[in-house]
Amino acid sequence: MTRPIWDKGGAAVDEAVQRFCAADDVVLDRELFPFDVRASVAHVNGLARIGVLSEEERVALVRELGQIGEAFAEGRFVLDARFEDGHSAIEHLLGERLGDVGRKVHTGRSRNDQVLVAARLWLKERLGALGALCLDAAGVCLDRATTGERVPMPGYTHLQRAVPSSLGAFFAGHAEAFLDDAETARAARARVDQSPLGTAAGYGVNLPLDRTGVAAELGFSRVQVSPIYAQNSRGKLELLGLTALHQATLDVRRLAWDLSLFSTAEFAFARLPEAYTTGSSIMPNKRNPDVVELLRTLPAAVEGAMAELSATLSLPSGYHRDLQATKGPVLRAFGRALDGLALVPALLERVTFDEARMRAAIDPTMYATDRAVELAASGTPFRDAYRQAAAEMAGLAGRSPEQSLSARVSPGGMGALGLEQLTARLAALRASS
Ligand code: ARG
Repeated sequence: MTRPIWDKGGAAVDEAVQRFCAADDVVLDRELFPFDVRASVAHVNGLARIGVLSEEERVALVRELGQIGEAFAEGRFVLDARFEDGHSAIEHLLGERLGDVGRKVHTGRSRNDQVLVAARLWLKERLGALGALCLDAAGVCLDRATTGERVPMPGYTHLQRAVPSSLGAFFAGHAEAFLDDAETARAARARVDQSPLGTAAGYGVNLPLDRTGVAAELGFSRVQVSPIYAQNSRGKLELLGLTALHQATLDVRRLAWDLSLFSTAEFAFARLPEAYTTGSSIMPNKRNPDVVELLRTLPAAVEGAMAELSATLSLPSGYHRDLQATKGPVLRAFGRALDGLALVPALLERVTFDEARMRAAIDPTMYATDRAVELAASGTPFRDAYRQAAAEMAGLAGRSPEQSLSARVSPGGMGALGLEQLTARLAALRASS
């Protein structure tokens, strides 16, 4: 390993201790590294604005940081156990390339605000991606709701056939869920959108750092004011991000459950695209819905991360090395869940439905609720109408799902499925992102 940046020439730290403290931190930092480089550029520019770096030094540092970022992106520089972490790697590489000028990069910052700013930038980007994926999923659901508006499908309560519904209604329900999730992701992103850079180790520094200018350069809407709170919010804002992620995975799980049920031979309403199923090693007849099953595990992965995070955050004020342990669960949960969510739009575009089979599953007794409501609407007290409809169920065979669906108009004159409203909401969210 390269010499730790904090080495003062005293006794070397025991190797096992070093390994334990570093854990997999440097590998996790691979994900944060590009953001750390970006934040370092903004920090350097800020230092030049207050006269701590000359223009010549600034130009050299920004140029080398750019090259470090490029080398990393192209795989020519690999962040590995030669370094304690990504932050040390940046300082080490700059020192190697620029000598004393390179080693000026850390003026007025601590790894504590360095990791915070990289994590914030990363989380903002991930929450943006989460929102976009939710909108993509909502978009496909709305397309399928539109084409499925007149395709009958039983509606279930308690997993028992209840009333005639439609494929369109099924997809409209999932669409609205993903629209909510997109808005939740956006709200979490707005909270994360605060720059911690310039708070140093949690108590500021004796330099007039241009915190606002640096925040603006990095695309943050504001700075976190209290340096102590900047540290105390580490992990807490990540937990908020995970909460938004969790909301989306709950909806993915329900959708996955629906598709896994509907694609059984017992229902046989849906057929998953072959490319989204796998085979059995022993049973040649099998096509297994592994993808929807693994999509169902996403909330568990996020909940695990949330539990680990909130347990780790049981700390007094200020930086503690414990906070390093918040990184892995957050990176892994977002990685896994966003990978899964990215599969949803294409899966939904390609799943097929058997209209005849779904129509056949609507039996005449399922019109009993329509009948009871009709009777009540023309003056019969509902409880009497309910009993009368129960007695007449056999006589409802002449009705059709189309009749039932077209009569079901939501309050306020909305189309039965409210597709115009949902489409307008999607368009507004897309336009403002
Ligand atoms: N890897 C560390 C973390 O994630 C970086 C900050 C180290 N700061 C320190 N004071 N040891 O927290």
